[in-house]
Amino acid sequence: MSESKYYEIARELEKLIDVGHYPEGSKLPTHRELAKEYSTTAVTVAKAYKLLAEQGDIESFVGRGSFVKSKSHLKQAIHSQHVENEWNFSILQPCFSHHLDALYRQLGQCVREPFSPSLFGYIEDTGCLNHKECGMKWMQHYGLQVRSPEQVLLTNGAQHALSTLIELYSKPGDCIAVEALTYPGLTSIIKALGRRAIGVEMDELGMTPSSLDSICLSENPSLVIAVPSHQNPTAITMPLQRRKEIANIVQKHTVWLLEDDLYSFLNTDVIAPISNFVPEKSFYITSLSKAISPGMRCGFVKVPQSQVQRLSSYIRTMVWHISPITFEVSARLIQSGAAFKLAESQKMIATHRQALARDILDSEILSSQNSSYHIWLTLPDEWEAHEFSMTAKERGMMVSEGHFFHYDDKAINAVRLSLMAIPEEQHLIEGLHSLKRLLDQRRTS
Ligand SMILES: Cc1ncc(COP(=O)(O)O)c(C=O)c1O
Repeated sequence: MSESKYYEIARELEKLIDVGHYPEGSKLPTHRELAKEYSTTAVTVAKAYKLLAEQGDIESFVGRGSFVKSKSHLKQAIHSQHVENEWNFSILQPCFSHHLDALYRQLGQCVREPFSPSLFGYIEDTGCLNHKECGMKWMQHYGLQVRSPEQVLLTNGAQHALSTLIELYSKPGDCIAVEALTYPGLTSIIKALGRRAIGVEMDELGMTPSSLDSICLSENPSLVIAVPSHQNPTAITMPLQRRKEIANIVQKHTVWLLEDDLYSFLNTDVIAPISNFVPEKSFYITSLSKAISPGMRCGFVKVPQSQVQRLSSYIRTMVWHISPITFEVSARLIQSGAAFKLAESQKMIATHRQALARDILDSEILSSQNSSYHIWLTLPDEWEAHEFSMTAKERGMMVSEGHFFHYDDKAINAVRLSLMAIPEEQHLIEGLHSLKRLLDQRRTS
């Protein structure tokens, strides 16, 4: 064979990763172990590992070894696993410290009343009317105008709502306008469905009306997707005036708006959603994932009157209906008022943690609202985002690199930090100090 030995070993390992012999996240043998197996030297194996790391197949950490990297963009961007002694600054979820005790208590109360036998069978419609009424109550509480519960459809979280709407209201090859920095779960759907994302420019108030207008003229997108409250990743909340301006642009063009507003419960004052100003051209999406639990997979979509039948029958075709049992639990939490209290207490934790983060980190490089779950941290020039996130990972801190949030995967010298996934406050404080030391390391060296 003409190829050098290290190249041969790399190709062999690549195959073993592909067939699942070494699964995602698994640790590869040490240089010495593999050298013995291939009758070669540890230096040759190190070169093979270097090649695989450059190709993005594996990642290596000094003192910890080499690991198989995930192929999924979303999995690389967001680490959902909780690992003992690590700091997960990556996933945006409620803070579970006292929340789970309160949630268990509330769930206990919920199931005391027997469930109607009809909830355990197939149901007629895409959801029970009283579950839709509760969805309506949740959305109205945070500012949405909804006339009738029939306009509320149920989904398995906001992600399911987004994928269903993109599939139904655009065609493969279509252009979809998103905020230039956006939630990677969204760009993953767009890519998986063969649509094309185009980034709308942003300023400190969110997507700009002028950029949206010119994209609508030049690219003719089927959909515009916006996250108006505590935007993921920038944490920007669009003020009312900007929301009205975006609504005017949507009104002017042949385009649907998908308004993904699952962080609206974190707003200090209720702000009218964009959808209130274009009710017949917008789908308003929310879920209980961020306020109560992502594990419940409860999403609500307010649909224009003209589209209720079309979307309902599509959901029915694809999944029959969403679990009435979990929606019954959610509906009881909303009816009793417990859901709003749980959401409020998460907002208080977020507010407290934002203040801690501002104290410990350099507030000049942070962007967020006082009650956001996360921070968008622009790195000092001394650090490049990938290197920063890898060094942080070596020290047990998971952060999400900037480029994962760019609609076109462009390098962005920033990282997103979630302040909520670490349950214990003391552990969070230690993690923030560690991050601060890492940020400063290059400045003092
Ligand atoms: C902006 C945005 N939309 C949708 C989702 C997905 O939410 P769900 O758990 O309700 O599917 C997330 C989760 O991080 C998000 O940040």
